[in-house]
Amino acid sequence: MPFSLLNDAEAASSLAALLDSAMDAIISIDEAEHIVMYNRAAEQTFGWSAAQVMGQPLSMLMPERFRRGHGDHVRRFAATGVTTRRKGQGGDGVTLWGLRADGSEFPMDASISQIATGHGKVFSVILRDVTERVRARQDLARFATEAAAVREQEKSRVARELHDELAQSLTALKMDAIWLRDHLGGHPAATDKALGMLRMLDTSIASVRRIAADLRPLILDDLGLVPAIEWLAQTFSQRHGVACELDIDESLELQEPYATAVFRIVQESLVNVAKHAQARTARVRVAREGGEIVLEVRDDGAGFDAAAARKPQSLGLIGLRERAQLLEGTVRIDSAPGQGTCVQARIPAPEGTPT
Ligand SMILES: Nc1ncnc2c1ncn2[C@@H]1O[C@H](COP(=O)(O)OP(=O)(O)OP(=O)(O)O)[C@@H](O)[C@H]1O
Ligand SMILES: [Mg+2]
Repeated sequence: MPFSLLNDAEAASSLAALLDSAMDAIISIDEAEHIVMYNRAAEQTFGWSAAQVMGQPLSMLMPERFRRGHGDHVRRFAATGVTTRRKGQGGDGVTLWGLRADGSEFPMDASISQIATGHGKVFSVILRDVTERVRARQDLARFATEAAAVREQEKSRVARELHDELAQSLTALKMDAIWLRDHLGGHPAATDKALGMLRMLDTSIASVRRIAADLRPLILDDLGLVPAIEWLAQTFSQRHGVACELDIDESLELQEPYATAVFRIVQESLVNVAKHAQARTARVRVAREGGEIVLEVRDDGAGFDAAAARKPQSLGLIGLRERAQLLEGTVRIDSAPGQGTCVQARIPAPEGTPT
């Protein structure tokens, strides 16, 4: 039967049944922030029964530290006249916390709505305990950090082996080839062969060195971030013919995982400049500003529409964001067609972090 055909009592009991069957906690408060409605899911979420909370201030359901500011939030929301607002990780991104009867706290998502009644405004909150989701996200982030570290170690090991074993053997072979060339006693065909071998050995040695360095520059592990970024900027200029200005705090020393993250973000941004920007100049800045490491890669090239949908095969910028986020950092991309591009990452590394 349509709701509108029910009498008041029937409508009220239907509504109560509906509220009690909801999976989410639903709580209504009056203008004085006293609880006037509290469903079954709210009882399960907070551990208080409806009888215990009806008429009580809403503040009993929130941790002490949020109580003072909350009234202002509600008044501001009332003044906006906006009917619904989503809060929490699934809404404005700020984690909200609830307080259970046993004193434990939990993160939650909430949406708040307001309606004007004959007795003043009534605010309703629909909220969900997101402890499991937050925990799953933390587990995933921990796993991703571990996986990234393992991948870097593996790259470092392979790079070192290529450099120390293969490049050294090739160099020894080159020495032998030089000896042969000098002892062939003027046999022209054999001398030609030896010269060909020498040329091939030179390119092979150069390739092995380049592959090893692209995998993971040993300079990063051996000498640290600043020389590694200098090396990166220099090879970028040489390979692509784009000038690269470097503005880096020489005294900056970062430990893992920060050094690798900064290095990889700069590297991916420069690869993008080479691939997409057709720039004349790139500019790399790395500095510590207060408790944050700020790194910026700017170019004066083609730019792109940063708000446009991502190409499905493009993973560079996503990976770059991911790296920063794993360290609680953020990435900002400013670009527009014809305006060049600026990729900026801010990663909190408190002064106390061993550097
Ligand atoms: N510096 C830049 N100048 C111009 N366009 C850029 C720049 N950086 C990124 N873009 C644009 O943004 C898109 C996404 O970049 P992203 O690094 O995510 O992917 P990709 O470089 O295309 O592929 P890959 O997964 O190999 O990195 C690029 O395809 C390009 O159109
Ligand atoms: Mg890319």
